[in-house]
Amino acid sequence: MGLDRAASIDDLRTRAKRRIPRFAFDLVDGGAESERNMRRNSEAFEEIELTPRYMVDVSDIDKSATLFGQNFDAPFGMAPIGMLNAFWPDADLILARLCSRENIPYVASSAASTTLERLAEAANGNGWFQLYVSSDTDVTEGLIARAEAADYKVLMVTADVPAAGKRDRDIRNQLAVPFTITPEVVAGLIANPLWSMATLQHGRPTIANYADLLKTATSYADVQKTLITPGFTWDDLKRLRDRWKGTLLVKGILHPSDAMKCAELGCDGIVVSNHGGRQVAFGPPTIKALPPIAEALDGRIKIILDSGIRRGADILRARAHGADFTFTGRALAYGVGAGGARGAQRAMDILQLELVRALGQLGIASFKDVGPSELTR
Ligand SMILES: Cc1cc2nc3c(=O)[nH]c(=O)nc-3n(C[C@H](O)[C@H](O)[C@H](O)COP(=O)(O)O)c2cc1C
Repeated sequence: MGLDRAASIDDLRTRAKRRIPRFAFDLVDGGAESERNMRRNSEAFEEIELTPRYMVDVSDIDKSATLFGQNFDAPFGMAPIGMLNAFWPDADLILARLCSRENIPYVASSAASTTLERLAEAANGNGWFQLYVSSDTDVTEGLIARAEAADYKVLMVTADVPAAGKRDRDIRNQLAVPFTITPEVVAGLIANPLWSMATLQHGRPTIANYADLLKTATSYADVQKTLITPGFTWDDLKRLRDRWKGTLLVKGILHPSDAMKCAELGCDGIVVSNHGGRQVAFGPPTIKALPPIAEALDGRIKIILDSGIRRGADILRARAHGADFTFTGRALAYGVGAGGARGAQRAMDILQLELVRALGQLGIASFKDVGPSELTR
């Protein structure tokens, strides 16, 4: 299927799957263990019905949203994704530039395959930085100082990785650090010449922000220790709040009491997220976790939601359940995999056109007016 005939994010995913070796496709497409949580994220969206109202003037639809004092042209942004250049060469820069052009936020991952400095430049004022708290406090402080120097205004600290998720597909594909060339890898490279050539040209993807530190890593455990810590606690979050002068968000919140604690510690917002179903298989879909959180917070701090958004209407479903803003990870990533920069643009256009169409069909002229009443019409 050509790019122009891709009608949905799922079509782009199918196209990406055909162009990328399995081990690299699964790296992004996969979820934790049985992948139940990942599947449920999208299914739970689909189960929510929004009833249209008619004879409302929707000739001029406004999909913009304001967040932390910045006006964005659409109510969603690009979630942080680590090592995305392994999926498609230059994916990080393609998406950062796309978000800048479309005037939506781009979140640079700590574990990105491009340095946070280059991504700040490419995102051109629309970049936020996602922080993994390391077991080494110097590593964490080093990243924060670099994020400050690169002029990021929003720091999004990820809370939902006390341990790395167990991704069965990666184990089956023998995806290991250091990377090993297995017969399956060789077969995948031969079967996908376009990907292989482009990857060869751009060089082996690394976790760029830690490139020097990881030079000496000989096992996955070494890499994990540098990137994350099981010892990240509320006291550390309090210290981070004191340390970071800009906007501070906590990503990976699923429980109303945790959301309240974030508000009490002075955070500016939370991201209701289950890491796209990549951390646990047994947790709730985010759209189900959201209502009690929104009720508890009662507008105290901003709520962003991600995990499972594949349709424009999902953004409205999230809004109707109490989210101020949304993020998507894989939807835009599939676009890149389906066709590089053009594919990313196609994914962006599909989401935005679906969003505008859904607003019109519901009889709502402005995204800002979508509210809980949409669920009970
Ligand atoms: C391949 C991949 C890598 C990811 N890497 C990170 C990361 O480095 N930091 C982080 O906070 N979240 C990471 N996430 C989670 C995303 O930020 C986001 O929560 C998730 O993709 C949302 O679900 P969706 O893909 O269904 O939209 C990653 C997700 C994927 C798919």
